[in-house]
Amino acid sequence: MDKAAAIKRIKELRALINYHNKRYYQQDDPEISDAEYDRLMKELTEFEERFPEIDVSESPSQRVGAAPLDKFSTISHLTPMLSLANAFSEQDILDFDERIKRFLGTDEKIAFVVEPKLDGTAVNLIYENGLLAVGATRGDGEKGEDVTQNLRTIDSIPLSMKKGKESPIPERIEIRGEVYIESEPFKKLNKRRLQEGEQPFANPRNAAAGSLRQLDSRITARRPLDIFCYGIGLVAGKTFKRHWDVLQTLSRWGFRVNPYVKQAKDIHACIAYYHHIDKIRAELPYEIDGVVVKVDDLSIQERLGAVSRSPRWAIACKFAATQETTIIQDIIAQVGRTGVLTPVAIMKPVQVGGVMVSRATLHNQDEIEKKDIRIGDTVIMQRAGDVIPEVVKVIESERRGTETKFVIPAACPECGSEVVRLEDESAYRCIGLACPAQIKEHIAHFASRGGINIEGFGDKVVAQLVNTNTIIDPADLYFLTQEKLLSMNGWQKKEVLAPKLLEAIRRTKTPPLDKFIFALGIRHVGEHMARVLAGSFKTLDSLMAATEDDLLAIRDIGPEVANSITRFFSEQSNKRVIEKFREAGVTPIETAQPESAHLAGKSFVFTGTLNKLGRNEAKEIVESLGGKISESVTKKTDYVVTGEAPGSKLQKAQSAGITILDEEGFLQLTIRK
Ligand code: IVH
Repeated sequence: MDKAAAIKRIKELRALINYHNKRYYQQDDPEISDAEYDRLMKELTEFEERFPEIDVSESPSQRVGAAPLDKFSTISHLTPMLSLANAFSEQDILDFDERIKRFLGTDEKIAFVVEPKLDGTAVNLIYENGLLAVGATRGDGEKGEDVTQNLRTIDSIPLSMKKGKESPIPERIEIRGEVYIESEPFKKLNKRRLQEGEQPFANPRNAAAGSLRQLDSRITARRPLDIFCYGIGLVAGKTFKRHWDVLQTLSRWGFRVNPYVKQAKDIHACIAYYHHIDKIRAELPYEIDGVVVKVDDLSIQERLGAVSRSPRWAIACKFAATQETTIIQDIIAQVGRTGVLTPVAIMKPVQVGGVMVSRATLHNQDEIEKKDIRIGDTVIMQRAGDVIPEVVKVIESERRGTETKFVIPAACPECGSEVVRLEDESAYRCIGLACPAQIKEHIAHFASRGGINIEGFGDKVVAQLVNTNTIIDPADLYFLTQEKLLSMNGWQKKEVLAPKLLEAIRRTKTPPLDKFIFALGIRHVGEHMARVLAGSFKTLDSLMAATEDDLLAIRDIGPEVANSITRFFSEQSNKRVIEKFREAGVTPIETAQPESAHLAGKSFVFTGTLNKLGRNEAKEIVESLGGKISESVTKKTDYVVTGEAPGSKLQKAQSAGITILDEEGFLQLTIRK
């Protein structure tokens, strides 16, 4: 490929990756699989390596993360990272101003800069000649951990500083800022973690700090981290007069500076700002726990210096903690849509920050044990960042000895099914197919295109059927009658609806076994795994009778999957639902194409655009038949499959004498002999 064509493709790939990043991070609605994304990224980095003269500074390839580390190394900050003394009231803020004046021996007004105090985790970024050289956590203030690889994945951290007429680039500079996660992305992150069977983070601060301390920066790259920069440490080759100038220049260099930063002519203006920000705080898209007041004049800052680890020239004015004392009357296990059990404290109702609170999530069993929370305890509660009420701590001196410990129940409080902690998961989960807390999700999955595929059966219909108790498990779909449907609101009006739905359901009475297995929604059993199971066991009965050892004997099946399957089928309520399917006449049929491995060990390379199949589909086919796909043509390649406009891989295959197939030839090959 010549350079012009490469530049064109690089542009395309960058735009495509940026688009998919947006779908994934901002809209929480990825369009392509992780594998497909990785392929795009790989293609991009290969091009960029081949044409090193093409500028990569704006490329999404710079943000993907690098190979995992064994551990972080330690980095000494060039100047210490101090912490702040706290003020909790107006009087504390006035005292701060008085102390400064006394120290300076002056009566004159002091001018300040005021800033929101973000609740995240502090970092130090060192730029050399305008390029991000290293980045570290605050650590003990003198030394932190080298998290450069992780910081490079954060979009709002410039990899190179912007140069301007008024803002020449210093030889070396330390930039200080707070890495944080906004409230909405935080909620989505936790939602996704729950869906994936992982423990949710207790709050955005923990999520930010935890994400930054990942040894595998590819994990950090997938976390919605952001930064606001609020100061500098050492700087060589530039001087500033005022902190305000520092903030303005940071902004010009391309760093994100909080838009609410402000100059305040005296301490009274600071107090007004403090109240104002407190008022609008709930509307901010991120959590703050106060405002920071800093002396604006840097020569005065220098004269003031620091006491122990805090500067005399700045103070954190914390918002009044919205905390109250109450009693935990009970702890219940709440079952989420995906079956995860979350312990929730039921409290004697109490006003916290103007809102009546009677429930607080305890997150998980580990959290309960860490805080040693028991039923009957007197506790301090707070609404963190004005959102989720949480238990801060137990007042142990109030204990009378009658308090009882909570244990996650062995049976689901909603449906009585077994509660299990699957092998690779920390969350406890109900595995009942008919669990009311999960039923909508289960039925929608059952009926979905990848599952049993009932046409025209959307979430609204599911919700209506479940809310009216017309169906309580997926098998009930096959017992639906015209009468039952017409008794629901709105159905008489649309005459065709009921017969259409009944017909669509009837058509799914002899589903391919693999589709049926997938539709059951067994944890860890996706479409591919369902095909493997159907191919190996041939009938539902023999799959249900399989032991963990039987399952482990199959290629592709590991202990987590085997464990999940046997537990699913040993659950009584699941057996009952499957019995109901039988009574309704649902008979899964052996798939025409049992999972064979006639392409076992064969290696395929694809080039160009396929017409009938998507790349993903082609990949699935190859893998389901035991073959594998690789990116580049080597001596080990068995087949090169060409679509429209094949690339250089075709020539390479021709000269290496490798079998070349077109799409039709490929499809022929995949048909079992
Ligand atoms: S100034 C000596 N400004 O609060 C100056 N800190 O307790 C030290 N923080 O470690 C920091 N927003 O993590 C400063 N606008 C802001 C801040 C801020 C959040 C955090 C930072 C620091 C801690 C100090």
